[in-house]
Amino acid sequence: MMFLHLMMVSVLSGGSAEVVREFREKCADIFANGASPTILHGHQYKQICQTLKKKVYYATLYDTDNKIPVYSAYKFNKAIRCQRKHVWCIEPQLDNPGEGPNMVPDHSRQSSNQAVSDDYKQSSFDRGHLAPVYLASSQDCADATFTLTNAAPQNLYFNRGQWRILEEEIAKELTKRCLSKKNTAYIVTGVVPGKDKLKGKLNVPSHFWTAYCCLDHNKECQISRGFIGKNRNFTPINITVNELERSLENLYKFKSFQLFSSKAN
Ligand SMILES: *[C@@H]1O[C@H](CO)[C@@H](O)[C@H](O)[C@H]1NC(C)=O
Repeated sequence: MMFLHLMMVSVLSGGSAEVVREFREKCADIFANGASPTILHGHQYKQICQTLKKKVYYATLYDTDNKIPVYSAYKFNKAIRCQRKHVWCIEPQLDNPGEGPNMVPDHSRQSSNQAVSDDYKQSSFDRGHLAPVYLASSQDCADATFTLTNAAPQNLYFNRGQWRILEEEIAKELTKRCLSKKNTAYIVTGVVPGKDKLKGKLNVPSHFWTAYCCLDHNKECQISRGFIGKNRNFTPINITVNELERSLENLYKFKSFQLFSSKAN
């Protein structure tokens, strides 16, 4: 996706992305009913409130062993046409907790705790966004998605093909069936670690998945769906959130994995 608009000039705005001990310190309101999807525990998992100019736009659970996110969670308000920035950032606090909260451009930076753009060079994989540019509701929000902690190696045909189509369909569906009723749309998008690695470092996910839940004024989930597809350019399957949770439990080998505390099915 990032090869489009290469000619575009982009200016880095003072961004920040804060590694927190717990999401709820800084970004509980990103999640439906304030409840994040299941958090994996272990030194390698870091909770990041993805912030730009002091505003939190989404949240990421990041895996510093695999150097890819587990998931990013965000609200969908409306889709606008944003410019694609082509400067990607990294999260300095993942290398050194003493560093400031600002995300910084990754220019020729090396890191053993997170992916950098160099790791993707000369590969046939895109830096696939989890929280997508397409669903961003402001330019700042779109800019905030260009951080490598929000990306994973994605088959480029899939990223620019069926996955993009799915993002568009979900946006249409939620606009028509959720936002039009002044309800609130919550989305979580994640990846399942696979067997291959890029440059012996970055895990190449076997699957990409996403799920949404639309909360009404009583905080009840009115509609929800889940989608999952292999990291290849096929249409992801459309299932219930319960089915997606069971399928992720099998793929991740977890006892229980919950995406939303309330669901419509
Ligand atoms: C997924 O399936 C549901 C139920 O059949 C349908 O209402 C919805 O439009 C489908 N969504 C997409 C993006 O295919």
